[in-house]
Amino acid sequence: SAIYRRGTLGQAPRVPTAPHELEGRARDAMSDRAWAYVAGGAGAGATMRANRAAFDRWQIVPRVLHGHTTRDLRTEVLGTPLSAPVMLAPIGAAELVAREADVAIARGSAAAGTPYIVSTQGCSPMEATARAMGEVPWWYQLYWSTDERLVDSLIGRAEAAGARALVVTLDTTMLGWRTADLDLGSLPFTQGMGIAQYTSDPRFMEIVRERVAAAGEAASPLAGTAGVEKVRAVAGGARTLLNQSRRHPGGVRDNLRSPVPRAAVETFLDIYSNPGLSWQHIETLRERTTLPVLLKGILHPDDAARAFEAGVDGVIVSNHGGRQVDRSIASLDALVAIRERVGREPVVLVDSGIRTGADVFVALALGADATLLGRPHVYGLALDGADGVRDVIDDVVAELDLTMGLTGAQSIADITRDAFLVPAPAP
Ligand code: FNR
Repeated sequence: SAIYRRGTLGQAPRVPTAPHELEGRARDAMSDRAWAYVAGGAGAGATMRANRAAFDRWQIVPRVLHGHTTRDLRTEVLGTPLSAPVMLAPIGAAELVAREADVAIARGSAAAGTPYIVSTQGCSPMEATARAMGEVPWWYQLYWSTDERLVDSLIGRAEAAGARALVVTLDTTMLGWRTADLDLGSLPFTQGMGIAQYTSDPRFMEIVRERVAAAGEAASPLAGTAGVEKVRAVAGGARTLLNQSRRHPGGVRDNLRSPVPRAAVETFLDIYSNPGLSWQHIETLRERTTLPVLLKGILHPDDAARAFEAGVDGVIVSNHGGRQVDRSIASLDALVAIRERVGREPVVLVDSGIRTGADVFVALALGADATLLGRPHVYGLALDGADGVRDVIDDVVAELDLTMGLTGAQSIADITRDAFLVPAPAP
């Protein structure tokens, strides 16, 4: 409604409401590297396109003369109240787009009353991001480290800082084949972006010191294996340490002075995610946290069923915005198959390709309990900082509200496939 009021005064919004305009304007505002990283997908981009095409296969059938004048968009997921069924997806290394990006996103998210899922690859310590959320709930997204002590430390910090749920991302045990980044020679993580959860973690610093000490005794772990790729990786890691030591004097710098800094460099490179992650790891979680646990990056109905058998509280159907396995199934199609398998009761969220309030409506009608917005809020950040993030969320929620009003859905529970959706006719 605020946006209509400005419109009547002839004022265009600072953040465009049309998704392609938002994207285009954000591109102009971003560096080539930031654009490649944020907008880019895996491989040839087939999954990114499939995510959008899946929405085009469904059509809403509005109902008229229902006589309702008010809507209630509120809902609740695993004890977290939502003012609308929209949350912000975790985004790592967002400092490529703006300084103090996580804190700005948190401010915008909180201003919209929307929970934010804070990334392990964040660029501020989660405690600072949590403070910027104020009273609005936030969740913590975990990348499962190769070091179990770091897993416990990150979970403990999230609990202490007030996270309301733990999201374990499973689809990025290794970074996908990110062609746009590769072609620019730009891989944010190895360039010192998105490592603030680590450098602010006392346990992590302990692990670095241990490894440096161990490497000091047994010569460099690189000995004999120093192929060209390895050397490149270490050079990238060295930049990481240098950047970080400038920002946190005394922290990483101590390690740079140590006799074998290469071990410290390697720690950054191999600690972030465990490629050998298995169901056995997930089964340990019940004893490691009191928070509700969601698994993010589930696409196969068997995996969804197994997740609930393993005692997790929810799944997030996601292909990481088409950034991991190119040619993987569209997230919305996976949602339909997974709902069919697990039934109506278990908590199932979805992301990847959601751009508008109408998209949220379709996802809910196909069985999602709530949705996550990824890239759009980063574009808002690029255009207008925290206010831009808030505006992107407000616009999506405003369109959802209108869609409900114009279809006769009074509450989120009213949005069902039977009531409003038909498959689109074949082209
Ligand atoms: C992501 N995503 C992501 N996911 C996660 O669990 N941890 C992370 O650190 C990140 N980092 C990240 C960075 C950037 C730049 C993007 C675009 C995405 C995935 C994200 O949470 C979400 O699944 C997708 O962004 C959803 O797809 P859309 O909305 O971008 O199409």
